[in-house]
Amino acid sequence: MARWQDVNGIYQIYPRSFKDTNGDGVGDIAGITEKLDYIKGSTSSLGVDAIWTSPFYRSPMADFGYDISDYYSIDPLFGDLEDFKVFISEAHDRNIKVMVDYVPNHTSDEHPWFIASKSSRDNDKRDWYVWRDPKPDGSPPNNWISVFGGSAWEFDEESGQYYVHSFLTKQPDLNWDNPAVRKAMMDVLDFWLELGVDGIRADAVRWISKDSLLRDDIPNEEFKTGEDPFNALIHRYSRYGESLFDYLKEMAATVEKHPDRIILFEDYIDNHLDLHEQYADFYAVNPSVAAPFNFEGMHTAYSARAFRSYIDDFQKMLTSEQRPFYCFSNHDMPRLASRFGEKQARLIALLQLTLPGIPVVYYGDELGMHNVEIPPEAVQDPFEKQTQLGLGRDPERTPMQWSDEENAGFTTGKPWLPLASDYKERNVESESTNSDSLFSMYRTLLELRRSSALRTGVYDEWSDSNDSVFGYTRQSEYEKLLILLNMSDVDGVCGQCFIGGVICDTHKSVELSISQHLILQPHQGVIIRCKT
Ligand code: NOJ
Repeated sequence: MARWQDVNGIYQIYPRSFKDTNGDGVGDIAGITEKLDYIKGSTSSLGVDAIWTSPFYRSPMADFGYDISDYYSIDPLFGDLEDFKVFISEAHDRNIKVMVDYVPNHTSDEHPWFIASKSSRDNDKRDWYVWRDPKPDGSPPNNWISVFGGSAWEFDEESGQYYVHSFLTKQPDLNWDNPAVRKAMMDVLDFWLELGVDGIRADAVRWISKDSLLRDDIPNEEFKTGEDPFNALIHRYSRYGESLFDYLKEMAATVEKHPDRIILFEDYIDNHLDLHEQYADFYAVNPSVAAPFNFEGMHTAYSARAFRSYIDDFQKMLTSEQRPFYCFSNHDMPRLASRFGEKQARLIALLQLTLPGIPVVYYGDELGMHNVEIPPEAVQDPFEKQTQLGLGRDPERTPMQWSDEENAGFTTGKPWLPLASDYKERNVESESTNSDSLFSMYRTLLELRRSSALRTGVYDEWSDSNDSVFGYTRQSEYEKLLILLNMSDVDGVCGQCFIGGVICDTHKSVELSISQHLILQPHQGVIIRCKT
């Protein structure tokens, strides 16, 4: 099995939507196992070395598995522990690493820990969650709000106290300041690592430490109506508490006990904090096993200037031992093809898969799947149900498009979310036999990442970047690659003399002779192997 340092990419699977084997309309673990050849191991595979699966643990599914009622078992909807063991062993047989989701900030309110905690003020699990008395007028202890809307505090009539939930009321936050909680959560990590998982994606970590004085968050003067209500406050005290990085170090130390494992932290950049300091703090946790995702590409405008400044800046900030994990989309963000446009999605793929580190690709983006409009009666996402702002996450979670069969070959039952209307044309079967497809481009790029300068080559700025074209080089001892991306609607002139050969082209149209100036068509991206 490849070591993490040689992994060419991570493929995120949202289990509910990948492949259903029992006809209940929801994907399952046996479905992921069935489709492992799609990921790696056969001549038509995508060719990615690792997968990350979103949660499959026992859960009432209020937040589709991010509300866990038993960290040690698999929800019957997805199968059982035996299915998981088969899955991991089959994945390892194909040299695919498996990363699983870890949800440390909150449990389900149906978790036995919370049931005990809620049962009385004297219960020995009371202090496993964050309970506080009301203010004298009966209102919540402070102004903190939940990511999913409304106060972050829920009143419990029986015990006369509030508990904090940074997400749904059904997702009470654990009290990480309690050493017994930390011990229990380290045991969870050990269990899955001992079972053979290769990596951990740690959910919503910034909330695990809160201000010990529980001070009010700060009103955001720039908030506009219609925006996500969560932006009404600057979340200065409800997260990034003083012990956050100590707790993350404990997690990393647990992971480090097991050889060649990693832990990736989910952390979106908080615009009210210093960008570089945030990255530096997360990387300082333990650079040999831990890193934050880089999500900036999810919010960066599609322009050569914006991407140049984002990537050049971030690359410059990294030290040689800090590894980037560029993640441009996931189950919480609109799909690449919808956010950037269909043509643009090819260029974005070329960009993401030519950057250093390990790119994280969301299932279906390799086919150009787009956001699907969800009629009101079909809405599933609790966030959308609660806010009704049209910001829900169902559109990017629709079933994987395997073939032109009924329900795209995803299920023989009724899919839990509607399928995209274009699935008959846009699917694995049709794209894997078409050498011009987006899927084929992903395959080519993932293959190139195995051996070329894309694997270990040093990233360098390309000084001739302009308003249309963003460029950079990747150079190893043996090879120098120049990546040029025209992120505009007009022809992009690359004002330099080129000597080399094109080894990948989003438009399949450039032919470079020995030396020439290059003009790229709108949204065209190329990799040039430079003659040195
Ligand atoms: C982040 C996850 O990605 C998201 O899907 C979930 O709703 C929240 N954390 C709460 O766990």
